[in-house]
Amino acid sequence: MAGDSAVTVPNGNANTQPDPQRTYQVVVAATKDMGIGKDGKLPWGFSLRSDLKFFKDITLTTSDSGKKNAVIMGRKTWESISAENRPLPGRLNVVLTRSGSFDIATAENVVICGSMSSALELLAASPYCLSIEKVFVIGGGEILRDGLNAPQCEAIHITEIETSFDCDTFIPMVDLSVFQPWYSSPPLVENNIRHTFVTYVRVRSSAVASDHQNNDVNSDDVLGNSKFEVKKFSFLPKIVFERHEEFLYLRLVQDIISDGTFRDDRTGTVMLLVCRKCFGGVLLKNSCGSSVAQQMPSIGLKDRMEGDLGPVYGFQWRHFGARYTDMHADYTGQGFDQLLDVIDKIKNNPNDRRIVLSAWNPSDLKLMALPPCHMFAQFYVANGELSCQMYQRSADMGLGVPFNIASYALLTCMIAHVCDLVPGDFIHVLGDAHVYRNHVRPLQEQLQKIPKPFPTLEINPEKKNIDSFMASDFKLLGYDPHQKIVMQMAV
Ligand SMILES: NC(=O)c1ccc[n+]([C@@H]2O[C@H](COP(=O)([O-])OP(=O)(O)OC[C@H]3O[C@@H](n4cnc5c(N)ncnc54)[C@H](OP(=O)(O)O)[C@@H]3O)[C@@H](O)[C@H]2O)c1
Repeated sequence: MAGDSAVTVPNGNANTQPDPQRTYQVVVAATKDMGIGKDGKLPWGFSLRSDLKFFKDITLTTSDSGKKNAVIMGRKTWESISAENRPLPGRLNVVLTRSGSFDIATAENVVICGSMSSALELLAASPYCLSIEKVFVIGGGEILRDGLNAPQCEAIHITEIETSFDCDTFIPMVDLSVFQPWYSSPPLVENNIRHTFVTYVRVRSSAVASDHQNNDVNSDDVLGNSKFEVKKFSFLPKIVFERHEEFLYLRLVQDIISDGTFRDDRTGTVMLLVCRKCFGGVLLKNSCGSSVAQQMPSIGLKDRMEGDLGPVYGFQWRHFGARYTDMHADYTGQGFDQLLDVIDKIKNNPNDRRIVLSAWNPSDLKLMALPPCHMFAQFYVANGELSCQMYQRSADMGLGVPFNIASYALLTCMIAHVCDLVPGDFIHVLGDAHVYRNHVRPLQEQLQKIPKPFPTLEINPEKKNIDSFMASDFKLLGYDPHQKIVMQMAV
């Protein structure tokens, strides 16, 4: 845990030298233009109880019951807390003032410091290095102007207030060349205030120039990438650490391996099965999950050329109902173009409850090398966001599912992009979630690994036609996956 004691260095790397300064995490609530205060108060008053609860939970909770956390704040933030609520109970309150013009020195649980660095040095020295578990910087604007993106800041927990408020105190934007998202909650609404809890973690020690993502993984244009300098993220409070959405996938894999039922299947490989309704979230991980169908020999389709899978996903999405001959035929204008219909409905009738893309065409199933696994997607528009719920009838948790999640997350981002919306949720409903026996060992290896912060996707803003995209229109920034784990394809 970073800064727990004199034997850690920032970002949790073990070292024999004491830290000269403590690292810290910022907890703040801000509007889209980073407004945090108005007339010495919170612009939204005390109407966001969920935010107050999050603040209390994260700053109060310690893993060691013998320790407490410290909160560092500016003098004006101290004064914005009502007299009966300060000092904030159960935490060491560190108040920064240059003038020292007010008298709180005698209050219990309160320390006054003349600068941020002297506060961090004090907390790194005895006795605080032993008694204080984590340090949170809680505002206000003047403190965070330098403190938000400073090298000692290892994580930023920000409640993003989407509803606009008049503010007179602002903080800088989060520097996304050094911080990457760990977690983002679904949007919540309380007292008509729409807000989201987001945590960013530091992945690099300092800001990188504008072309900040060197590609050292793949030479094509899609992966703008560089390795994280920070390797461990266990400095995050447990309540935030465990929110990483990849744990949804990992817990489901663990459940199947631990409690699934053995069953024979089409591939002849004994597999484990668990009934579990759904999980959601965006996952972009290193996956070699090419489609099972691509590896399948044609079954009873003797006239087909090798590689001709029949009227599978792309054909059904763009030419539903057309008569399939072979993969070389020109189907222009034939059948129903579901993809364009989906985009048209999202743009022109976003409240439609029939924005559906179906790859399941019963009359064509006998012509396919393998009937669609991810068969049905429904799109939903609200608050300027596009969400997608996809039903998958058969889910190979080891190889296929990570690839399917990444594919539909990307599809949702692409459709949102051409419709001038922002991506919302991806909800993945699994009909038959299974782990092949020969994937158990590699998946157990994967379960030992701790997720890393998510990469971000950039799409060429000039491209607004779904048919115009090239691979070079996409950039995946900050993708630093764990090493590849090989799994055999079940055929
Ligand atoms: N939305 C949120 O999460 C959130 C959180 C906290 C606060 N707020 C809001 O933010 C506003 C207060 O922010 P603010 O920017 O006006 O004030 P602030 O940052 O809370 O406090 C400023 C004061 O802190 C001292 N100070 C600042 N930098 C210092 C440094 N480097 N070293 C030593 N002392 C330092 C100075 O005190 P002296 O003048 O005594 O020298 C300065 O006047 C309020 O509206 C509050 O409600 C919002």
